[in-house]
Amino acid sequence: MLKIIHVTVNGREREIAVDERESLLDTLRNRLDLSSVKKGCEVGECGACTVLVDGEAIDSCIYLAMWADGKSVMTVEGLKSREGDLSPIQKAFIEEAAVQCGFCTPGIIMSAVEIVGTGKRYTREELRKLISGHLCRCTGYEKILDAVARSVEEHLRGAAD
Ligand code: FES
Ligand code: FES
Repeated sequence: MLKIIHVTVNGREREIAVDERESLLDTLRNRLDLSSVKKGCEVGECGACTVLVDGEAIDSCIYLAMWADGKSVMTVEGLKSREGDLSPIQKAFIEEAAVQCGFCTPGIIMSAVEIVGTGKRYTREELRKLISGHLCRCTGYEKILDAVARSVEEHLRGAAD
């Protein structure tokens, strides 16, 4: 059965008809064409579908679209500036060579947005734990950790300026 939900997606208010059993992942990809949100395992194991809901990183494959009613959702498409520039975190992933095939990247970037948003400094082991919900078949994780650590440092430096 279809149900109407109201969601703010990447800053834009949307009214969407969704199936009651539909995942937020399917809504974002199939109804809103937000293809950065990747469909990997579909059981909450790989992190490829990670988006922010009210600022919290969640696996959108195991989150019903209906649960997002009245909430704010952000995907990688919402990170770029009005002029179309990449965000500092996206740039850090490129500069640290943390992207290979790129399938895992949007989900990890959204977790990085959550991590950076805490405004805290973390040890490398803490960062490793914080991104442990993401699987990457290509990079061996070290470059990803470099990118997340760089994003945190750049953010803290910017906040102190
Ligand atoms: S597709 Fe959602 S966690 Fe793997
Ligand atoms: S870059 Fe290929 S899965 Fe992570």
